[in-house]
Amino acid sequence: MKTEFKKNILCIGAGYVGGPTMAMIAYKCPQYKVTTVDINPVRIAEWNSDILPVYEPGLDEIVKDVRGKNLFFSTDIEKGIKESDIIFVSVNTPTKTFGVGAGMAADLQYWEKTARKILECSETPKIIVEKSTLPVKTALAMERILTLNNNKVHFDVLSNPEFLAEGTAVKDLENPDRVLVGSRQTESGLAAREELVEIYANWVPEERIVKSDIWSSELSKLVANAFLAQRISSINSISALCEKTDADIANVTRAIGFDSRIGSKFLNASIGFGGSCFKKDILNLVYLCRHYGLNEVADYWESVVKINDYQKGRFVFNMLTAMFNTLAEKKICLFGFAFKADTGDTRESPAIFIAKRLIEEKARLTITDPKALKNAKRDLHGVDGKVSYIEDPYEAAAGSHAIAIITEWNIYKELDFEKIYRSMIKPAFIFDGRNVINHKRLFEIGFNVFPTGKPALTHFE
Ligand SMILES: NC(=O)c1ccc[n+]([C@@H]2O[C@H](COP(=O)([O-])OP(=O)(O)OC[C@H]3O[C@@H](n4cnc5c(N)ncnc54)[C@H](O)[C@@H]3O)[C@@H](O)[C@H]2O)c1
Repeated sequence: MKTEFKKNILCIGAGYVGGPTMAMIAYKCPQYKVTTVDINPVRIAEWNSDILPVYEPGLDEIVKDVRGKNLFFSTDIEKGIKESDIIFVSVNTPTKTFGVGAGMAADLQYWEKTARKILECSETPKIIVEKSTLPVKTALAMERILTLNNNKVHFDVLSNPEFLAEGTAVKDLENPDRVLVGSRQTESGLAAREELVEIYANWVPEERIVKSDIWSSELSKLVANAFLAQRISSINSISALCEKTDADIANVTRAIGFDSRIGSKFLNASIGFGGSCFKKDILNLVYLCRHYGLNEVADYWESVVKINDYQKGRFVFNMLTAMFNTLAEKKICLFGFAFKADTGDTRESPAIFIAKRLIEEKARLTITDPKALKNAKRDLHGVDGKVSYIEDPYEAAAGSHAIAIITEWNIYKELDFEKIYRSMIKPAFIFDGRNVINHKRLFEIGFNVFPTGKPALTHFE
């Protein structure tokens, strides 16, 4: 089909990655027509509405600026494939929950269905871009599916993993540390790679566009997430030691973060990492290592996930022991449910584990969060316990025995804690799973304060 646009770009999968990434490409490249399709009609309707399905600072403005001009959201996948020159595939690749590799390997069913759909609907040559995070050698499987019709249509498969972080997606997409593009080292593979590079070159400086072979590109995404999660587990393991030794994790973090070989980022002790990616990608890496007989390597990376589970369990255990070994019928208020600030995403949020454990202890829960209450309700649907959801933190905290800070939302730093303290049952406890509040001040107000990785401040003898 002839259009006024230089190229037609399609993205299959309108999720946390597909939506914002395509919005940025459309915003930066008015010469391209960018269409994002999804099998979920509700999601597409939300992308076409005033309330987008993904909350990201700055995203609304970008989408509103280009939607209907060169950015489109649709459920017509077949038409989208037929008309496209370049197809990004950004479908979900969750951890497999059944059969071989259950709980470890990536579930590639959505991926394979997409590959077959592309094959079925394509009439002209296309570049297929892996945007989803995938096990190494998935491009090979993709190629095998795409050549099932005896090469009637030519496809080049590229790997272009996404490194955006939720909460800062727009910033990350606009100013990425790097864009990674992996290809086959064939003439046509290298030419396809250059076409993709040309898109990013519209706004990303050339030196930040990293070109690589396809297998290294696929593996790099898993390794990047494994390294990031490893830093969190490393500092969290030390937070446990700090609590036993009266050392202060903030001082340890500062001392090691100044070492330029270590660096200061991703060193905040907390209740542990969440999000849809870290755990699944590490387990995927672990599964790959075991597949290749590298059991020691697999054990090493698996321990990053184990420490994360330990940290979440420790948080609840600390609450239990501090509150006189019983939480039954006590009202506990969770400040935040999202897995991190500035997102409504609750996938793998530590909040889910913590809420369920507290309910097992027969606590009554009140959950407050500025963006994630809808998802929180879905996550705890069917859980047998007393849970209420209140957006206003003052109202949520009133009448509670304890507050647990789960998400590092900025609003929690600015609350009137004197007012909150007055409204709570005494002795009032606060457990800071993110170390975001002023512990000394809260102690002076009257709270018994339990930070992460620092000595507790209590009014008990
Ligand atoms: N969320 C992140 O921060 C992040 C960051 C980097 C990479 N990734 C990776 O990107 C990929 C997508 O992640 P996400 O968070 O955007 O997932 P998501 O679940 O938010 O979105 C995936 C979308 O794909 C759609 N889909 C599934 N099968 C389809 C099909 N056959 N045809 C059309 N649409 C289909 C789903 O309906 C869903 O809307 C994953 O591999 C993930 O690991 C995610």
